[in-house]
Amino acid sequence: MLRMFCYFFVLCALFVVLPQSLVLHGSRGIRTKQPHLDESLIYLWPLPAEFTSGDEVLSVDPSLKLSVAGTGGAGASYIVEEAFERYKKIIFEHSGSGNVGARLRFKRVLVESIISEYDVSQLKITVHSDNDELQLGVDESYTLQVSKVKEDSIAGEVTIEANTVYGALRGIETFSQLCSFDYTTKTVQIHKAPWVIHDQPRFAYRGLMLDTSRHYLPVTVIKQIIDSMSYAKFNVLHWHIIDEESFPLEVPSYPNLWNGSYTKWERYTVEDAYEIVNFAKMRGINVMAEVDVPGHAESWGVGYPDLWPSPTCREPLDVSKNFTFDVFSGILTELRKIFPFELFHLGGDEVNTDCWSKTPHVKQWLQTNNLTTKDGYQYFVLKAQEIALSKNWTPVNWEETFNAFPSKLNPQTIVHNWLGPGVCPKAVAKGFRCIFSNQGVWYLDHLDVPWDQVYTAEPLEGIYDASQQKLVIGGEVCMWGETADTSDIQQTIWPRAAAAAERLWSPRESTPKANITSTTLPRLLNFRCLLNRRGVAAAPVRHFYARQAPDGAGSCYSQ
Ligand SMILES: *[C@@H]1O[C@H](CO)[C@@H](O)[C@H](O)[C@H]1NC(C)=O
Ligand SMILES: *[C@@H]1O[C@H](CO)[C@@H](O)[C@H](O)[C@H]1NC(C)=O
Ligand SMILES: *[C@@H]1O[C@H](CO)[C@@H](O)[C@H](O)[C@H]1NC(C)=O
Ligand SMILES: *[C@@H]1O[C@H](CO)[C@@H](O)[C@H](O)[C@H]1NC(C)=O
Repeated sequence: MLRMFCYFFVLCALFVVLPQSLVLHGSRGIRTKQPHLDESLIYLWPLPAEFTSGDEVLSVDPSLKLSVAGTGGAGASYIVEEAFERYKKIIFEHSGSGNVGARLRFKRVLVESIISEYDVSQLKITVHSDNDELQLGVDESYTLQVSKVKEDSIAGEVTIEANTVYGALRGIETFSQLCSFDYTTKTVQIHKAPWVIHDQPRFAYRGLMLDTSRHYLPVTVIKQIIDSMSYAKFNVLHWHIIDEESFPLEVPSYPNLWNGSYTKWERYTVEDAYEIVNFAKMRGINVMAEVDVPGHAESWGVGYPDLWPSPTCREPLDVSKNFTFDVFSGILTELRKIFPFELFHLGGDEVNTDCWSKTPHVKQWLQTNNLTTKDGYQYFVLKAQEIALSKNWTPVNWEETFNAFPSKLNPQTIVHNWLGPGVCPKAVAKGFRCIFSNQGVWYLDHLDVPWDQVYTAEPLEGIYDASQQKLVIGGEVCMWGETADTSDIQQTIWPRAAAAAERLWSPRESTPKANITSTTLPRLLNFRCLLNRRGVAAAPVRHFYARQAPDGAGSCYSQ
């Protein structure tokens, strides 16, 4: 029987493979799809709030200098200087653009000053504040101006002016997108100059969630993803660190918790976590940690079996024991030192309390306290909120908590939507803040959501009152990890996350749902190729299913 099945399988495989390889060899020389490169479009992603451009082409000096001005102190200028070094590698990616010969070709020499033969030889960044604290609502606005060298001035300039260093970072990203390499002159050029760009985000919270419990993601990979997030101006990494499958994080006061990691090689030390937070901060990205209780926590009991109501009832965590809350509080005390972001995610989703009532000591505790199992769930969530608040954290909870007991939640709670549309309107009507992540459009593990559905999703859908609209702090795309690990995570995130990034950054009126095929699609195709050039494994844009490899030969700009 097994053997017959094998023959059958091989035969089928032949049928599947054979015709495809014939097609590939037969399509030589035929380019069905033409690259989309409409010169009239503005290839910036996400689209800035306001801008004007011209029709000049300026060359950029490969030894571009940085000057930092304003009251931005040592901390602030360190962040700008490090960013400048990173972006120089991106902008001058071709070795032809930065060779020594080019640097030595001077046009003319004036008294004590050298005139570069390039139009732009200085990036001048002015930061008005020396406060480099990164929090929700930090000022990310900037003004970017690109102008040609005037005959009487020493050199042409690009200026970025921002209130905070994080606005400056967004401006540098935009500047890098204006630059392109010209293969004829072998110089970096800025097209459509002069530019004046006044930019700021539409929403304060622009997030991507990573799940390191369903699959462990190495620190290097998390850093690569953080880097790629900054290209699309995301500013929150929601780190869903632990879940029922594995507990990879070190918690020094409860050293057996990470016994729940898959293996001893798939763990994060406290130092790793600090490193990730700092790496993200250098790119203007907050890290919001999540400890999801009382469901999604089975892995905690590997190291501390007392957290399980019983060996056969392993989650939700044991609501009846003080030990449960001691451990929870201990974890938060440790995490508070690592994560300075004011928001902390407490989960609270998908809690099935059935086995509580089948566990004698839990059932007894519920009866003694006159609680139903549903009340027990509420008790757990509210107690977790109190603990987070006592550590000066603003609690974020998945929407089930709001759906089940809205009037009991702490008024500071930020409701995190996921189940479907229409939840943020209800939450903001009751005065709660809200994060939009409707799974029908913004769950990246849903591979059957094409880019245009991601793009046209609207966090303010159904909310018309201006004061209620303000309570939607933004949105987040979620990369749940069951089918994503290092082998495929980048192409599952990108390019669709970029569609959400523009929705969250750019003005609603300049990103309408109409005309997205003629104007938005070519811009997104271009941004995907930009990500590829920067080494990000973003998949072709137009496949119905996400993360598919290209169908055949062709330009990056046509796929
Ligand atoms: C957890 O791991 C430590 C160190 O390997 C070991 O000593 C301890 O027995 C483990 N605890 C449990 C409950 O598995
Ligand atoms: C558990 O905590 C409650 C409330 O803090 C306290 O009243 C009770 O005595 C504690 N129980 C034990 C066994 O420590
Ligand atoms: C138990 O709870 C119910 C519902 O909340 C309430 O009506 C009842 O008075 C409570 N009984 C006691 C003894 O507290
Ligand atoms: C957008 O679509 C409308 C209606 O089809 C059309 O009238 C308009 O010219 C389009 N605008 C652009 C910029 O393509």
